[in-house]
Amino acid sequence: MSIDVDLARSLTPGTQHVVHLNNAGSALPPQPVIDAVSTFLQREATIGGYEAEAEALGELERVYDSIAGMIGAHRDEVAIVESATAAWNAAFTSIPFAAGDRILTGRTEYASNAINLLLAAERYGVEIVVVDDDDHGQISVDGLRDAIDERTRLIALTHVATSGGLVNPAAAVGRLARDAGVLFLLDACQSVGQRVLDVEKLHCDMLSATGRKFLRAPRGTGFLYVRHAILDHLHPAQLDLRSATWTGPDSYDVTSTARRFEEWESSKALQLGLGAAVEHAMSWGLENIAERTTGLAVRLRRMLAELPGVSVHDKGVDMCGIVTFSLGGAAAPDLKSVLTSEGINTSVAAFTSAQYDFPRRGLEQVVRASPHYYNTEAEVHRLVDVVASLAEVSA
Ligand SMILES: Cc1ncc(COP(=O)(O)O)c(C=O)c1O
Repeated sequence: MSIDVDLARSLTPGTQHVVHLNNAGSALPPQPVIDAVSTFLQREATIGGYEAEAEALGELERVYDSIAGMIGAHRDEVAIVESATAAWNAAFTSIPFAAGDRILTGRTEYASNAINLLLAAERYGVEIVVVDDDDHGQISVDGLRDAIDERTRLIALTHVATSGGLVNPAAAVGRLARDAGVLFLLDACQSVGQRVLDVEKLHCDMLSATGRKFLRAPRGTGFLYVRHAILDHLHPAQLDLRSATWTGPDSYDVTSTARRFEEWESSKALQLGLGAAVEHAMSWGLENIAERTTGLAVRLRRMLAELPGVSVHDKGVDMCGIVTFSLGGAAAPDLKSVLTSEGINTSVAAFTSAQYDFPRRGLEQVVRASPHYYNTEAEVHRLVDVVASLAEVSA
C-alpha cells in the first residue's frame, strides 16, 4: 500500500508552514499526537495532575502495549523514559563491568554513547574496540566476528547513523552476539519510526529509542527495551520509589519488569503523545513509511549528486531517509542558513558527533536533509533548486 501523502499532510499542521526536511532532528508531530498532549494538559489544569493521571491510567498503560507491539516485545520489557540517551545510559550503566572487559562498537557510534564508553574505560578499566567498516561503509560483520573473544562483554551498535544514511546490518550483528553469548545494545534512535524493528529478528538484548525523530512523538520522550531473560542480570545505576519498593527500614526490592529503568516523575502528557505517535505510525504501516521515506531520499541523493561541486556523503548497502551533502568549499552552517531563509529546515552533522568516522573520511561538517513520508517530491526539488542556485554561483 502506498502512503496517501495528501492525507498525511492534512494531519500534519506544520506542513503548511515549513518544508521540514529535518526529521532526523525532530519531526513534525501529527494532529493525534498534538491532541493527546494538549487534551491531557487541559485535564491536568482542570482537575489536578495526579487526578488526571488516575483518570487516564488505562490509556497510559496502553502506551506500553503500543510500543511493545511496534517492536515485537512484551509490555514488561519496555521502559518509558525522556530520551534515547536516557534509555541507552540506563541500559549501559546497569551492566556490571569488570576491569579488562571488552566492548565492541562501530565507526558510526553516536557521540553520547561513545563518550559514555570512554567514561566506562576510565571508571572500570574496560577496553573499547572500534570495529572497522566493510567495503560498503557499514560495520564489518566479519571484523566483528574476529574481534569477539572471551573478554568481550558487550556489542554496542548504532543502527542508523546520526550523520549519514547508513543502516548498519543490525540483525547479522545481533545473531553473532547471541551465538557468542555477548550482550547486544542497539541504538535505534534514528531507525525507530522509519524502519520495521523487531527485537526478535534483531536478536538484541537492549534497544534504545527516541520519540521525537522519525516516530513523530513530542520532544522529551523515549523508550528502552530490555529482553526479559537478561533483566535480572542488569542492575540499574540509580533507583527510586518507582523502579524499586522500600520494603523495610533496611531493605528494598527492585521492580521485576523493565520499569526498573524508569523514574517516578515523568510527563504523562508527553507519554500519551508518544503512544499516539506509535499508533499513528502503525496505522500507516512501517513498511510503507520505510518505502516512501527511502524513496524520497534516493531521489534527493541522485539529484544532488548531479549538481556541480556537490558531494553526497552517505555510505552503506542499505540507506535510509537521511541524506548528507556538501557544496565545494561552502561551510555547512552557511548552506543550512540559506536553506532556512528559504523556509527549508535541515541540520548540520559535524565531526564532533562522528569522531570515529568523519576525520578518517576527511569530513568536518555536512548538511543533513532527512525527508519523511509526509514530505512531497516538490519539497525535495525545492531544496535541490536552492542548492543548485548556490552551486551555480560558486562554480
Ligand atoms: C543515533 C542517535 N542516537 C542517540 C541520539 C540521542 O537521542 P536523544 O537526544 O533523544 O537522547 C541521537 C540524536 O540525534 C542519534 O541520532
